[in-house]
Amino acid sequence: MTMSAKPMTDKKIQPASQYKRIMLKMSGEVLMGENQYGLDPATVKRVADDIKAVVDLGVEVCVVVGAGNIYRGVAGAAEGMDRTTADYMGMLGIVINALALQNALEHIGVHTRVQSAIRMDSICEPYIRRKAFRHMQKGRVVIFAAGTGNPYFTTDTAAALRASEMNCDALFKGTKVDGVYTADPHKDKTATRFDRISYMDVLTKDLKVMDATAISLARENNIPIIIFSVREKGNLAQVVQAKGKYTIVTN
Ligand code: GTP
Repeated sequence: MTMSAKPMTDKKIQPASQYKRIMLKMSGEVLMGENQYGLDPATVKRVADDIKAVVDLGVEVCVVVGAGNIYRGVAGAAEGMDRTTADYMGMLGIVINALALQNALEHIGVHTRVQSAIRMDSICEPYIRRKAFRHMQKGRVVIFAAGTGNPYFTTDTAAALRASEMNCDALFKGTKVDGVYTADPHKDKTATRFDRISYMDVLTKDLKVMDATAISLARENNIPIIIFSVREKGNLAQVVQAKGKYTIVTN
C-alpha cells in the first residue's frame, strides 16, 4: 500500500537501542566545510566526533562517503571525458575521503578499517563482507571506499548496497537540510518537512532523496532511510536516538 505523501506528525520512531548497526552516508561536499573543494580538517574532525558519539552509544557503524569535494576540483579536467573514466576518478576521490576520515577517527581513539571495492592493497583492505562484519562486531567503524567499484552507480547506491549486505537496521543520509521537504526550503518559504514518507512516494514524486536504484534497494531489503542535517555538531547522535528533526523513509 502506498502511503500518502501528506506531511505527518507521528513520532513513533524506533528508539536508539533498536539500532544495532547503522550505515552513515555522507556526501563528499560535507567534508569540504565552507571551502569550494577539498577537505577542511576542522570539518573532518567534527564529523569524526559525531561518528564517535554514535559509537559511544553502543551502535555499530559503517560509513560510505561521496567524492563531490574532490571531484569538483577536477571537474574542469573531467569535462568531455568518458562517463566511465570520470566515474573511476570519482571512486579514487572517495578513497581519499575515506582515508581522511579514518585518520580523523583514529586520532580520537575510534578503531576503524577501510575496505575498498577496488583493490588497492597497499592502502587499505579489499571489501570482504564477512571481514567487515567481524570488524563491526569488534566495535570498529568500517569505511567502505570506492563506491560499488563500478561506473554508472552512485555512492547513494553503494550505501544502500552495503547497508543491505551488512544487515544494517537503518541508512542515515546526512545532507545540508534536516529532511525531505515538499519543495526546496531555500526557495519556497511554504515548503514543509515530511516526518515520514514511503519509498514509493519518494520514487513517484521524484523527491530527490537518493537515486531510484538506491531507494529500490533499500525498499526491497526493508531498510529505513533517515534524512537529517549533518551540519550541526552532535546531530547524528540525536537523530540515532530519534530526537530532533529528520525525515524517515519506510514502507
Ligand atoms: P582481526 O584479526 O579479525 O581482529 O582483524 P584485523 O583487521 O586486526 O586483522 P588483520 O591481521 O587482518 O589486520 C591487521 C591490520 O592490517 C589492520 O590494520 C588492517 O586494516 C590491515 N590490513 C589487513 N588486510 C589488509 C590489506 O589487504 N591491505 C592493507 N593495506 N591493510 C590491511
